[in-house]
Amino acid sequence: MITGHRGAAALAPENTLVSIRKAAEAGVSWVEIDTQLCADSIPVVIHDETVNRCTNGKGKIADLNLAELKELDAGSWFHSNFAGERIPTLAEAFNTCLDLDLTLNLELKIHHDEQIEPLVNAVIALIKKMDFPIDKLLFSSFQKRALVLCQQQMPDVRRGFICEVWNGYSLTSIEAIQPYSVHIDHRILTPAIAQNIKDAGYVLKIWTLNKAEKAQHFFNMGVDSIITDAPDKF
Ligand code: G3P
Ligand code: MG
Repeated sequence: MITGHRGAAALAPENTLVSIRKAAEAGVSWVEIDTQLCADSIPVVIHDETVNRCTNGKGKIADLNLAELKELDAGSWFHSNFAGERIPTLAEAFNTCLDLDLTLNLELKIHHDEQIEPLVNAVIALIKKMDFPIDKLLFSSFQKRALVLCQQQMPDVRRGFICEVWNGYSLTSIEAIQPYSVHIDHRILTPAIAQNIKDAGYVLKIWTLNKAEKAQHFFNMGVDSIITDAPDKF
């Protein structure tokens, strides 16, 4: 019922291997991480369009190759205890999830539309190459187009539609991608929206809730799973 967000973003530098390990230590069986392509088309695990916030470097991920990214310190910005932590490749994150028996909510992080197809292709190629177990995987994205491509290329992997806006057209607009789940910003979730999503037969996940005392309120609405930076509090 609990998923660690960006690993466990409140406990360790987000989207690093240590962050994934901290989530597992907190007892969750699911983690969410963000992936995008670096300049040499390798999927890496980082949220922002640039390395500026979460490393000691500067520049866009799409303009930096893996060797350049691997030189950066992705831990010190969070706390000196994590100095030397690196931006993981998605392959490294897959291996960490396998070692820890975690199920992975893999967010395909799109900053520009033209990134959709190359990212999906590279991620799916890696899943096939590593033979990553598809029952341990959920693709998620704000971009329906990314989920359509996932559906075409790897239909047996579950798909989660992430949204921060919900209106009368939202349900019909996602029908075609046959999502397993809807991941909604907890700040916009109302009982009526929750009811709609549950009536449609989808698993309902909320992000990013860090106040454990509010969990019951959302479970009462029908929420199935909470994505949180602080899995230790839940
Ligand atoms: O998957 C839910 C959440 O991760 C979406 O927002 O910006 O944290 O990737 P963001
Ligand atoms: Mg995310």
